[in-house]
Amino acid sequence: MNSKYQPLFEEFTFKNNAQIKNRMVMAPMTNFSSHPDGTVSDSEIDYYVRRSKGVGMVVTACTYVTPNGKGFHGEFGGDHDGMIPSLKRLASSIKEQGAKAVLQIFHGGRECPPELVPNGETVSASAVASEGSENTPRALTESEVNDIIKAFGETTLRAIKAGFDGVEIHGANGYLIQQFFSPHSNRREDRFGGSLEKRLTFPLAIVDEVQKVVRTSAKEPFIVGYRFSPEEQSTPGITMADTLELVDALSNKGLDYLHVSLMDFWSAPRRGVENTKLRIEYLLERINGRVPLIGVGSIHTADEAINALSTGVAMVALGRELIMEPDWVQKVQDGKESEIVTTLSKKNQNQLVIPDPLWQAIIHTPGWFPVVD
Ligand SMILES: Cc1cc2nc3c(=O)[nH]c(=O)nc-3n(C[C@H](O)[C@H](O)[C@H](O)COP(=O)(O)O)c2cc1C
Repeated sequence: MNSKYQPLFEEFTFKNNAQIKNRMVMAPMTNFSSHPDGTVSDSEIDYYVRRSKGVGMVVTACTYVTPNGKGFHGEFGGDHDGMIPSLKRLASSIKEQGAKAVLQIFHGGRECPPELVPNGETVSASAVASEGSENTPRALTESEVNDIIKAFGETTLRAIKAGFDGVEIHGANGYLIQQFFSPHSNRREDRFGGSLEKRLTFPLAIVDEVQKVVRTSAKEPFIVGYRFSPEEQSTPGITMADTLELVDALSNKGLDYLHVSLMDFWSAPRRGVENTKLRIEYLLERINGRVPLIGVGSIHTADEAINALSTGVAMVALGRELIMEPDWVQKVQDGKESEIVTTLSKKNQNQLVIPDPLWQAIIHTPGWFPVVD
């Protein structure tokens, strides 16, 4: 290996003593390939096995914690105990390759396709449609909100029983947890909304509930991470200044990591702070060493990864790049970083072990992946 990449291969020990072998993480990516009953499919297992040998940790595609949180066709479920064998298969297949397996736990809120949720009724913090959507969700009652908080804890217990090494709370990408933090989707006037501080109530209550379950039920170190998106385009919407408050509160929670969701690791803030630093720099400054941060977004080459790590993030996550190049980590380790593939050939679906529904989504979504013939 070229010695300049050595820092990518240093072990990392979380606050709870769980250890991972290097600083590379597979980013959570929905693959649309589970069975309609919410169980994990063989093609999905094969896809994860192909990508879990090199990285230190795999964060799975998101799993819904309640039936009305199912956000994608072919999303696997974590909403009842009958799903534990399916979750166990997924956890084992990742861990057998040498990576830690972290289950991303999720509720889609107003972004759920109505045909996937009971009675076609989507729910959110308030009855506000997302921009460009004609589907107005129903505002959750206070007792339903409390039930969803508990459901995040119950899915965490299933993750423990299934042998996962941790959970990542999906507070990013515009889904329910973010909908409660956002002034666009949260117009409530109860304890869950009204001020920025009150909009933090739901995300922080989920963290507390998940941590309570881990404290009482996990027998081995169990990782708890939290993913967030730094900004929203809508007005009103989450600004970088809002996110720094969220991150400040999360940094005092004793979490094992925070994970920012970005399409470009090097992006600059849109609004709310002076545009003098990168988002990642603002985040690291505010966190100030209290909790490790995982960075992500358009990291393709080994040089890009080492540059990203040198900003001070604890780990770098690779998403699309690991779909295009499952052997990314091994190639850097073997000094073959110049052989890393950074495009997707239309001929390589089978060789890359990409399930059909994910493949179809990739080749029919312009601009998402650098697809070549
Ligand atoms: C196919 C696909 C599915 C994704 N699904 C999820 C998901 O389930 N949860 C999540 O937090 N992010 C999801 N993302 C976002 C990625 O985790 C990541 O943040 C994004 O792709 C940018 O990283 P990259 O440039 O390395 O791909 C998804 C991205 C892709 C490409």
